[in-house]
Amino acid sequence: MTDTRESSTRDNAAHSERFAPSAEFAAGAVASRDLYDAAEADRLEFWADQSRQLIHWHKPFTEVLDWSGAPVARWFGDGELNVAYNCLDRHVLAGNGDRVALHWEGEPGDTRTLTYAELTAEVKRAANLLTSLGIRHGDRVAIYLPMIPEAVIAMLAVARIGAVHSVVFGGFSAESLRARIDDAQAKLVITADGSWRKGKVSPLKPAVDAALERGETTVEHLLVVRRAWPDGEKLNWVQGRDLWWDEEIAQVDADHVARGFEAENPLFILYTSGTTGKPKGILHTSGGYLTQAAFTHRNVFDLHPESDVYWCTADVGWITGHSYVVYGPLANGATQLLYEGTPDAPGPGRWWELIEKYGVTILYTAPTAIRSFMKAGRDIPERSDLSSLRLLGSVGEPINPEAWLWYRSVIGGDSTPVVDTWWQTETGGIMISALPGVTETKPGAAQVPLPGISVEVVDDAGEPIEHGDGLLAVTKPWPGMLRGIWGDPERYVETYWSRFADAPDGPWYFAGDGARKDEDGDIWLLGRVDDVMNVSGHRLSTAEIESALVAHPWVAEAAVVGASDETTGQAVVAFVIIRARHRETVSAEGADSLRGHVAEQIGAIARPRQVFVVDELPKTRSGKIMRRLLRDLAEGREIGDTTTLADTTVMQIITDEVNDSR
Ligand code: WTA
Repeated sequence: MTDTRESSTRDNAAHSERFAPSAEFAAGAVASRDLYDAAEADRLEFWADQSRQLIHWHKPFTEVLDWSGAPVARWFGDGELNVAYNCLDRHVLAGNGDRVALHWEGEPGDTRTLTYAELTAEVKRAANLLTSLGIRHGDRVAIYLPMIPEAVIAMLAVARIGAVHSVVFGGFSAESLRARIDDAQAKLVITADGSWRKGKVSPLKPAVDAALERGETTVEHLLVVRRAWPDGEKLNWVQGRDLWWDEEIAQVDADHVARGFEAENPLFILYTSGTTGKPKGILHTSGGYLTQAAFTHRNVFDLHPESDVYWCTADVGWITGHSYVVYGPLANGATQLLYEGTPDAPGPGRWWELIEKYGVTILYTAPTAIRSFMKAGRDIPERSDLSSLRLLGSVGEPINPEAWLWYRSVIGGDSTPVVDTWWQTETGGIMISALPGVTETKPGAAQVPLPGISVEVVDDAGEPIEHGDGLLAVTKPWPGMLRGIWGDPERYVETYWSRFADAPDGPWYFAGDGARKDEDGDIWLLGRVDDVMNVSGHRLSTAEIESALVAHPWVAEAAVVGASDETTGQAVVAFVIIRARHRETVSAEGADSLRGHVAEQIGAIARPRQVFVVDELPKTRSGKIMRRLLRDLAEGREIGDTTTLADTTVMQIITDEVNDSR
């Protein structure tokens, strides 16, 4: 009998255990060493080859990369493709129309199955509907939907007609939605009445109504998918502006021919937090992005589209949902699971029940989820049969070795490879990861750049280091890279390309992450080096939360830090100074209502874990807040060096105040 288990070798140092792929896994693996060799031999030809193999080009490209306009790249610049055609029609034409594209399950347990033929038909209609509403090539469409098939259909329909989607996570507030609609000047918003979360309806359309009430808007129509209230009775309706998706789609033509668009045609804008208060609209285009999404999805997840059932638990509101729920898997003709609700509804075992029910073979999720399952105990997943799983992936934040080992052992039955994948909204696709069947995996390390990707760990001066801690830099352009920040070319250059502008064959891309290169040359990600926090795998900006806090009439000043948290990775901790005239009224509950205020302004994911009312903030002589010291305090550490403070006694005062209120 073949031993399907990976063999493990444990070194003396804790957590340097490594897992070699089993012979059986390696023998059937999609990826192979040859990929590294080919990329090493000729990086551009490697990407061109992958693109030709994985993508259907309406008009084949002859040029691969044009970097003459650095830092804006053009990949496959003279080629033409239709992204939606690649995700749909061609699978049907190849005889795979009956393959399931989506197994969808709603939180209440209702289900829908869409084959590739059915999904293609839905998207064709939706494309005609968009056109009938006046949406043209290049127009922006905001999508504010829950995890229902229409989210996928809407994204693909927008792509199919060469328009640009901006998906806004359904958990964002009306205010955040409005800022994103305005920045992209969206003409249409696609939303739903509401969605099911934790056994209740969480309304969505009312948030869109509230967003659009705030003055003149570019939005002409609101398309509303019926999800939560079959009769729509609870909704406010603006005649002429608001339209039911199901009613409109019934009236349009079923046929739609996908035309090719140029490779650099914008595909989507996705907003992410940066170091300032204003979110950045990260712009991705078509040919290069789809190439990297498809290549990484196939090789990192060892996808066998005929037999695998793949499940990425990310919401389509995040980049992971774009690249690894929509574009990568569908370009590769995968069968996948889409689930609407939360992991603990109606019971704590919901995810594991879904895996058993659908025979999920590949699971891709975030460390924060794994850690909360760990906390709840292994007996919950052990109630379900998880033996269909053969590969596990992690994304969004560093995965601590304990969580990695638990994931492999409890969820992966001690036998599945675990791939820790590092990447960003900006990179479009996975950049650093083991290749299953090829790489010996190491708990806690993302390990090695993928074939065709060049990264270095560099010191402050931008010099690559052999071993030790530094900053992560990407040293060569890659196909899925962002093409800019929507409407702000200067911020694009400044944020990503100014730090290593003088690199030898530069500029190099500054990722904003700290990294360590170990003795084996493996890369460990160490978290952000800027004022971006990572809470449950979601990026939040300290500045954005601070400005939400100071927008409150009580608050004079605010400082926000990301403090380490056992479950969520980091948690938001705020320190606020209350205006003199409100001090009397603001008690402990006051701090609580400020937490609620942030959730209302930005979204529930931004709600601070704690808000401490203090009389002063630690500032340097030039008035800069020293967040590092506040982080020490929030994490219960001894306070670091305070000598550069304008008033060195201030940290003692703050510490006493915080301890009093704890
Ligand atoms: C962090 C999510 C360590 C990192 C795809 C990055 C990770 C930010 C990992 C991007 C990982 C993502 N190990 N850290 N495997 N994956 N990160 O844009 O700090 O939401 O800069 O993209 O998440 O977050 P974003």
